[in-house]
Amino acid sequence: MTRPTELTIRRPDDWHVHLRDGALLHGVAPHTARQFARAIVMPNLSPPMTDRAGVAAYRERILAATGSARFTPLMTLYLTDATCPDEVERGFGEGVFVAAKLYPAHATTGSAHGVTDIAQIRPVLERMAAIGMPLLIHGEVTDAHVDIFDREAVFIDRTLTRLVADLPDLRVVFEHITTAEAADFVAGAGPNVAATITPQHLHINRNAMLVGGIRPHAYCLPVAKREHHRLALRKLATSGFDRVFLGTDTAPHAQHLKEAACGCAGLFNAPFALESYATVFEEEGALDRFEAFASLNGPAFYRLPVNEDTVTLRRETVTVPDVIDCNGTPIVPFHAGETLNWKFVF
Ligand code: NCD
Ligand code: ZN
Repeated sequence: MTRPTELTIRRPDDWHVHLRDGALLHGVAPHTARQFARAIVMPNLSPPMTDRAGVAAYRERILAATGSARFTPLMTLYLTDATCPDEVERGFGEGVFVAAKLYPAHATTGSAHGVTDIAQIRPVLERMAAIGMPLLIHGEVTDAHVDIFDREAVFIDRTLTRLVADLPDLRVVFEHITTAEAADFVAGAGPNVAATITPQHLHINRNAMLVGGIRPHAYCLPVAKREHHRLALRKLATSGFDRVFLGTDTAPHAQHLKEAACGCAGLFNAPFALESYATVFEEEGALDRFEAFASLNGPAFYRLPVNEDTVTLRRETVTVPDVIDCNGTPIVPFHAGETLNWKFVF
């Protein structure tokens, strides 16, 4: 088979991004808006986005920052122990947000106000199941006794299995999965359970973080795992399975906040996201399945139309810069200093 020199697919959406706020929002959001038509925007700001008014105002700030009439932010509500089911239903009905995000308290950046016990939000989850509103889950336990590399698998056993059995109508996106256990869980679950996968978890295993020195720019949450997990994720992403889709989890932090004694979790992958994913699909001999993962499966799960316009990637090497200036904040991107074989053209 001849290798294609160009790849044109329906414009993709990014089903998991952190766009931040203020000056940094203006520095990072245009990178997402350049490649993607829509993005599911995480609500873990400080303070978090816990009500309709806050989410609606944040949406306006995002639109101002991207300056692109073509880009649509899809907003999410941050669930806390105190979230009111009526507020959730009203915001969903009015189109202020399209989903709600469950952060187990203290699981990751900006999760201090998260849910302490899923039983606390049972009425909210029942309402979401009734109205067909997706629940987006950061799937890690936070128990200090559980090893950080096991936290996703333990979450499946302790929480997720029971949740989807108890509320089979609840539409669940298991966000940024990182393990073979999670891949198996989603593949074996019913039609209301889907997952997103980041580019970094398809490219790197935990060695990238720990061999030859500690590498803060490979550190994100959930943390990258052993090689066999990476291979399981690549297999699922490129298999043609229709309930897995693109979600970068681009999570920018200033260079000095990552290169620190206690560095922040999160990778900034938005500037070369499609190039990064396309490289994986080509390596797996699955370029013909890239459009489904990037542009079709997500809208189908979220019950939204697919995008009408297209993007084109060309087979051409691109070198990712060491640092990107994001409106005055220097940020080290994922793949910094590396060369990728696909270039986003338009
Ligand atoms: C995210 C962030 O920085 O907001 N960090 C990360 O490592 N992914 C939070 C998150 O999604 O866990
Ligand atoms: Zn995230």
